[in-house]
Amino acid sequence: MNSNEIKQKENQYVANTYARYDAAIVQGSGARCSDADGKTYIDFTSGIGVNSLGFCDTGWSEAVARQAAKLQHVSNLFYTEPCAQAAEKLIRLTGMKKVFFSNSGAEANEGAIKAARKYSFMKYAEEAEALGKSFNRYEIITLGDSFHGRTIATVTATGQEKFHKFFFPFLQGFSYVKANDIEDLYAKINENTCAIMAELVQGEGGVNDLEKGFVEEIKKQCAEKDILFIVDEVQTGIGRTGKLMAYEYFGFLPDIATVAKGLGGGVPIGGVLFGEKTAEVLHPGDHGSTYGGNPLVCAAADYVLSLMTKEFLADVCKKGAYFRSRLLEMEGVESVSGLGLMIGVALKEKSTADVVKACLAEGLLVLTAGKKIRLLPSLTILKEEIDEGLDIFARVILPS
Ligand SMILES: Cc1ncc(COP(=O)(O)O)c(C=O)c1O
Repeated sequence: MNSNEIKQKENQYVANTYARYDAAIVQGSGARCSDADGKTYIDFTSGIGVNSLGFCDTGWSEAVARQAAKLQHVSNLFYTEPCAQAAEKLIRLTGMKKVFFSNSGAEANEGAIKAARKYSFMKYAEEAEALGKSFNRYEIITLGDSFHGRTIATVTATGQEKFHKFFFPFLQGFSYVKANDIEDLYAKINENTCAIMAELVQGEGGVNDLEKGFVEEIKKQCAEKDILFIVDEVQTGIGRTGKLMAYEYFGFLPDIATVAKGLGGGVPIGGVLFGEKTAEVLHPGDHGSTYGGNPLVCAAADYVLSLMTKEFLADVCKKGAYFRSRLLEMEGVESVSGLGLMIGVALKEKSTADVVKACLAEGLLVLTAGKKIRLLPSLTILKEEIDEGLDIFARVILPS
């Protein structure tokens, strides 16, 4: 099919929930892909942070193909080797204690919310009952400009009004603190707070860095009041920031962390990682997923994780620094945010929508986030691919 035929068919048959870029991508290799009309692109999006090893990495493709030909799925009624292997690697590399495999970031956050509420109930419900009080210690604080997913619970957790328009009534027990505002944090924490959930670099909200002092204060409040700190690493996790997990930059292990996106390198897998306090909270019957952690996606995750060495992560940092130094030299750039290969670019003049469109026309794929351009290239992107893409970007954003 040519591009127009693909677009026409999708527009006719697929629900109209996505404002698609005007391109039908058919194949890719590394950080390059091409559309159905043969036009080629440098990819600075990696499928919104999913294709951590780029398009169709040979080792990754072979691992997936091998598993697909052996055992693709058997349900969570059974033990499987890929699940065991991926879980072991994930736990050893992250320093957490246990993992629940999900299919997506939103689903991982749902699991985190359920586990946090169960932890609180198991520990504090009896006390409330003994005092003749109803049990209300289920409130979860999230941050303004956060993004945690599209299900009802995670859209409620998402601290952005624009996602809250039509879907009420929302889940009870969420409140929002302005990011990096310690006074607001003090004002919102109360005796019913059971967890605080945050991205350490906010992705969709604009690649906004959380300040060290603010994260320290969350840690302190959580430790003092037995509030669980849930870190949403769906976008930042699995090497994206140049550390395996962004919480390493802040020197702590969260009570719960969620991952997805880059974990599978292109297949749908996420995970809820449980720390010391929460590792034994969920029991059989509390939570589950038909597909979660099936052999196919775990073989992919196992392969991705097998590459996450110190050298690999140091290379991500090096590439991130190179991106930053080149971006900051560009005339049209106001500032650069983010960590590693999670990069936010505030522009001086041009609108982000116009820049995305112009980049696409010139053969470069970029994203937006909040009021910025967001770059999430594959972690394996080559120097010449970075240069080729940044040359296009510099031309496109040049103030008129
Ligand atoms: C930080 C964060 N959390 C959760 C999600 C939701 O993930 P998914 O789209 O896989 O449900 C996203 C997706 O962009 C995200 O960036």
